[in-house]
Amino acid sequence: MARTQEYDLGPHTFPRGWFMVADADEVTRTPKALRYFGQDLVIYRGESGRVVLMDAYCPHMGTHLAKNTTSFVIQDNTHVEGDNIRCPYHAWRFGPDGVCNQIPYFNGPIPKAARIRTWKAVEKYGVIFTWHDPEGAEPDFELPVIAEWDDPAWVQWKMDHLGQVPIHPVEILDNMADMGHLGPTHGAPALYFRNEFRDHVVYQYQGGTHRFLEPGAMLETETWYTGPGVLLSRYMDSQSLMIITHTPVEDGLVQAWTALLVRSSNAPPTEQDISTARAYQAESTRAFAQDFEIWTNKAPCFQVLQIPADGPYNKVRAWYKQFYHPRALAKTMQEQVNGSHTIRGFPDARVSAA
Ligand code: FES
Ligand SMILES: [Fe+2]
Repeated sequence: MARTQEYDLGPHTFPRGWFMVADADEVTRTPKALRYFGQDLVIYRGESGRVVLMDAYCPHMGTHLAKNTTSFVIQDNTHVEGDNIRCPYHAWRFGPDGVCNQIPYFNGPIPKAARIRTWKAVEKYGVIFTWHDPEGAEPDFELPVIAEWDDPAWVQWKMDHLGQVPIHPVEILDNMADMGHLGPTHGAPALYFRNEFRDHVVYQYQGGTHRFLEPGAMLETETWYTGPGVLLSRYMDSQSLMIITHTPVEDGLVQAWTALLVRSSNAPPTEQDISTARAYQAESTRAFAQDFEIWTNKAPCFQVLQIPADGPYNKVRAWYKQFYHPRALAKTMQEQVNGSHTIRGFPDARVSAA
C-alpha cells in the first residue's frame, strides 16, 4: 500500500471531508463494527431511528462494543436500549452523545472520562455519511444536494458494494483528469473534455461516442467531486445520475460503493421501471469495475509521466491536497487551481459525433 506521505499530499494522513460509512439499510439495532481512517468504529440505529456512530472501544476496560455475540447483554436484548448502547462486558450504558449514563452496579457519580468519541452520522440518499476532520472541526462544506432523490419519477438506488481496493484514493481522483483512458478502458473515447475547479468541488465535462451506441449517438457527462469522497455524474440526457463514494480504511486502502439513480416514465415507478433501473445500474457498475480491476493491480503512481495530450492530473492533485492540509490553508490552495483547465489542441466544449 502506498501512503499519503509518499504522494506528498500534506500533513494529514486522511483527508477532511464527507465520506460514506454504511448503507442506510445495513444499520440496525444490532451494532456493527466498522473500520475507517485507521480506526475501529461502531454504528447502530437507536430505537428512535437515529443513527449513532462512535469509536469502538469502551473507556472502562477497552471492550469492543460491537464484536460480541455471547454476553448476556446481547442475549437479553439490552445491547441497544432507546438510543443508548451498552457495553457487553460490564454493561455500562452510553448515550448517543457517547456519554456514559448508567453503570448498573454503581450508584455514585459517573466519572467524566467515561465517554466515547462520537462521529457525525448523516442519513441521506440511502447512505450514512460522516464528516472526517483531522482538526476535529465542524464541516466547512456541505454534502451535495440531489434533487432527483425525492422526485417520484426517479427510481431510488440501492448502493452496490465494491469492497476494498489497495490503492491510495488520490489515484481514484486522478480519474477526473483522465481523458486518455475513456476510449481504451471504457470503449467511450472523448470528443471533448474539460475540467473546472471551484473551491472544494472539481468538475469534469466530457462527451463522446461509445462502442455499443449507434453511430453518431453521443454519451455526455457532467461529473463532480464534492470534497474528496463523493462523486456524482449526470448523464446529459437527464435520464440518470451516478454516485461513486470511497472512504479510506487504512492509509493506502479504500472501500468503494456505487449506484445509479434512474428516471422512469411513470411516477411513481412501476415494478418494471424498478427492474429496468436496476439493470441500468448493473451496467454502470460494470463500467466502473473496469477501472477497479486496473486499480486493484497497478503499481503506485507518485508522479504521472504526463504528456500534453493528457488531462490536467497535476491540477487535480493540487486541488486534492487542500483536504490533507489545515483548513486555514484551503482558500489559498483553492485559489491556485480555481478555474477552467483544458487540454491543449483538444476540443473543450460540446461537439457532435461525426
Ligand atoms: S469494559 Fe465496557 S463496561 Fe467494562
Ligand atoms: Fe474510468
